[in-house]
Amino acid sequence: KKRVAVLISGRGSNMAALIEAAKAPDYPAEIVLVLANIADAGGLETARNNGIETAVVDHKAFGKDRAAFDRAMHDVLVAHNIELVCLAGFMRLLTPQFVAQWNERMLNIHPALLPAFKGLDTHKRALDAKAKVHGATVHFVVPEMDAGPIIMQGAVVVRDDDTEATLAARVLKVEHTIYPAALKLVAEDRVKVADGRCLIDGVAVPDADAL
Ligand code: GAR
Repeated sequence: KKRVAVLISGRGSNMAALIEAAKAPDYPAEIVLVLANIADAGGLETARNNGIETAVVDHKAFGKDRAAFDRAMHDVLVAHNIELVCLAGFMRLLTPQFVAQWNERMLNIHPALLPAFKGLDTHKRALDAKAKVHGATVHFVVPEMDAGPIIMQGAVVVRDDDTEATLAARVLKVEHTIYPAALKLVAEDRVKVADGRCLIDGVAVPDADAL
C-alpha cells in the first residue's frame, strides 16, 4: 500500500472520507499521517481518534518565509516515508520548490468544476454567475493555484432555491466520493500525465478546458 499524508487546515471532512475509504482491505493506500498548519485544526482530533499519527507545522512560526515552512513540512513527510500527499482543505499556497518535490505525487481537492472558479468563495461565485452546474475537482498540484492536471470531477445541478450553504453541502458530498476514488487510481499507478493532462489506464480524462 502507498503511504499517504493528508494535509489539512480545518475540520477535515475530506480527510475523514479518505481515512474511511482506506479502511477497506483492498484499498491501495494507507493514511499514515495527518499534517496540519494550525494546531487546533478540528480534523486532527478525528485523525487521532482513528489511530492515525498527526503532526503540526505552524506556518506562523516561519513568518513570511514560505520556503522555510515548506522545507519543514517536507522534512516531516520524508521522515514518515510518505509517497503520496493529499491536500484536503489545506489553505496555504505552496512554493514551486515544494510542489516540484511532490510532482505528480500531490493531489488537491477544489470545490468547483475547474477551470471554473479557481480560488476562494467558489459556491457564492457559482451562484452569482447563475451557473447551472457546479461541483468539485481532484487534480495534481502544480505551482499555479488550482491549475494542475485534472484526475476526476463530480458535478451537481444548481437548484433555483440553492443558497451558498445548501450548494456547499451537496458539493461536499461529491468531494467525499471523488477524492477517495481519485486517490485509489493514483495509488494503483493508473494515472499518467502527458502534455499537462491526465490519462487513466491510457484514456484521457475529459476536461472542459480541452473541448
Ligand atoms: C473543502 O470543500 C475543500 O474542497 C475546500 O475546503 C473545504 C475543506 O473542508 N478546499 C479549498 O477551498 C482549497 N482552496 P474539509 O476540511 O471538511 O475537507
